[in-house]
Amino acid sequence: MHILTNTYYVFQPPAGAGQYVELDMGCGKGSFSLQLAQRYPQRLLLASDLMMGRLASLQRKRERLGLSNLLLLRASNLALASFQLPPQCIDRLHLLCPDPWPKRHHRIKRLVCTDFISRLQRILKPGAILHLSTDHQPYFEDWLKILSRFPNLVDCPEGIEDISDLKSDFERQWQARGMPVRHLSRKLVSTQS
Ligand SMILES: C[S@@+](CC[C@H](N)C(=O)[O-])C[C@H]1O[C@@H](n2cnc3c(N)ncnc32)[C@H](O)[C@@H]1O
Repeated sequence: MHILTNTYYVFQPPAGAGQYVELDMGCGKGSFSLQLAQRYPQRLLLASDLMMGRLASLQRKRERLGLSNLLLLRASNLALASFQLPPQCIDRLHLLCPDPWPKRHHRIKRLVCTDFISRLQRILKPGAILHLSTDHQPYFEDWLKILSRFPNLVDCPEGIEDISDLKSDFERQWQARGMPVRHLSRKLVSTQS
């Protein structure tokens, strides 16, 4: 596991030339990352979160399954997007069920906002896919408004067709309670100035 918190370290993904790199930001318990790493052994999978307990348990599963293509980062989403990853290093970025902070006075804590999407673009390769999901309909609607400010991120449902059967831990929990989880995927067609 790579610990990036409280450092200015820039993590260089150890990808081979032309290797496809995916990032599961705020991976939580990491079922989604594990499934993805098993499905695509030739790809490099980065799974990041702040919570050590969750990462440690994911690390044990990774070792049991011998998934050397899955690397764990203890890092904040904002730091990864802002400076702890090099520019244009990610082919597909997943941000699944980020905390919706549904109470009005907590909304300030929400991760997805115009500034965060701008920062995420920095680490996406041209043509990369941005994949978001949430169970919280108002948050989803906010995303649509935010993303409408980024004409260079074009709707691309086919960008996640290959993984429509893979569920994150939170998505499974919500589905078990009969609550639908909505997904969206956008393709970066050019970098906004
Ligand atoms: C609601 S859970 C979703 C986990 C997983 N993506 C899923 O769908 O099962 C949100 C995750 O984001 C992590 N998280 C919250 N804020 C974060 C931050 N600023 N940087 C990195 N991870 C964060 C939490 O530790 C938690 O594991």
